[in-house]
Amino acid sequence: MSRIAYVNGRYVPHREAAVHVEDRGYQFADGVYEVCEVRNGRLIDERRHMERLLRSLSELRIARPMSLPALSIVLHEVVRRNGVRDGIVYLQVTRGVARRDHAFPPPGTRPAIVVTASRIDPAKTERYAAEGIAVVTLPDNRWERVDIKSISLLPNVLAKQVAREQGAREAWFVGADGTVTEGSSSNAWIVTSGNEVLTRKADHAILKGITRTVLLDVLKAHDLKLVERPFTVAEAIAAREAFITSASQTVMPVVRIDGKPVGNGAPGLISTALRADFSRYTEKS
Ligand code: PDD
Repeated sequence: MSRIAYVNGRYVPHREAAVHVEDRGYQFADGVYEVCEVRNGRLIDERRHMERLLRSLSELRIARPMSLPALSIVLHEVVRRNGVRDGIVYLQVTRGVARRDHAFPPPGTRPAIVVTASRIDPAKTERYAAEGIAVVTLPDNRWERVDIKSISLLPNVLAKQVAREQGAREAWFVGADGTVTEGSSSNAWIVTSGNEVLTRKADHAILKGITRTVLLDVLKAHDLKLVERPFTVAEAIAAREAFITSASQTVMPVVRIDGKPVGNGAPGLISTALRADFSRYTEKS
């Protein structure tokens, strides 16, 4: 089955899918995105992802490209046309195409929209989860509004590359105060020796992950105590368990931080239980 992308109102072959050279996403990274998990051909937590999209757009004063019901049809259609059963659907909206000028383009410039879908082999993700992943830590050198899901991801790109070069799957950003903010494309969590589950409060210093939000319900159902506070790298290394959350990986155990084992160096019981139970708490559409 050949891949199809949705670009500004048309479904086009993926290899020919292109945007204009003066798209503001291309020139200024002036846009936002969402990544939604696809499971058994259904979108996971579409409503929450769309709510976050609207918030990102409004924070950046970018117009909505279309109504949410219309967008929902496009997302499902791209998934269907690509025959994606398990994977992700990617959506990007930019401030549109206009003569290059840093200030906003003339009123009436239409936002540009691109939607793609790709398969992810669930067995591969499960293999990572069974072994647990390594993370490395790096200074957080991002701007102060990373709560907006902007396509401007250079620090995240560079951090992920450092992780890969060091044999790790994720990089954790560390703020000036020595506490972990989040991963380059995930939220960061630890489980303390007292079985408290720690993650940062969702303020401007992190992206309020949809997986994070859903996991709060899972924690409640499991009678686990949530503490929303920052933690240091040393605390994370000394923790009983650590894990990350993101749409494409749900709950992924972390077993090494900067080369040092977390707990006994294997995925923890709580992380594994949360992962196993996660999908019961998601919305499917
Ligand atoms: N990343 N923090 C950052 C910086 C992220 O990029 C992401 C998601 C998250 C987790 O958010 P969610 O649970 O809504 O996926 C946290 C996506 C998957 C990506 O960039 O591919």
